[in-house]
Amino acid sequence: MLRLDDPFVSNRRVAVRDTVVAGCPVRAGEEIVLDWRAANRDSDIFGDPESFDPDGHGTANLVYGVGPHVCPGTGLATRQLRILLRAVISAGRPELVPDQPPVREHAPAAGFRTLPIHLVPEAPEHRR
Ligand code: HEM
Repeated sequence: MLRLDDPFVSNRRVAVRDTVVAGCPVRAGEEIVLDWRAANRDSDIFGDPESFDPDGHGTANLVYGVGPHVCPGTGLATRQLRILLRAVISAGRPELVPDQPPVREHAPAAGFRTLPIHLVPEAPEHRR
């Protein structure tokens, strides 16, 4: 889900030597921007960027970065998100609130600013 709608927008880098990235020459000292959201929706890598295939896309997923600066908070963030999602879906069936539509964040942030939901109680046999 975070690949489809990456909350982490971009980072800057300064090239330490002349190089070429995907056919584009980059000179030493030039500042470049890593657009994580675009990279995570690259159709050359993921096919249809809207497709949801956690197993197939897992190894190419760049939500937590890659290389020497890969996110050291990966385990903590993933654990917190799992705990949150489990708590929400075990408390009821999440439904959007009709008169309070979700509000998107604005750049340079991403994701949702607010996403009001009702948790509709479910019979015990349907609880997750
Ligand atoms: C969903 C949540 C998170 C996402 C999507 C995320 C994403 C990222 C990404 C893409 C990078 C790479 C930045 C780069 O290449 O320059 C990064 C670096 C980093 N993250 Fe996270 N992160 C998350 C949560 C956390 C948490 C919970 C912590 C700490 C408790 C954390 C601490 C850091 C630090 C310290 C770095 C810098 C590592 C370095 O430059 O060597 N992150 N994160």
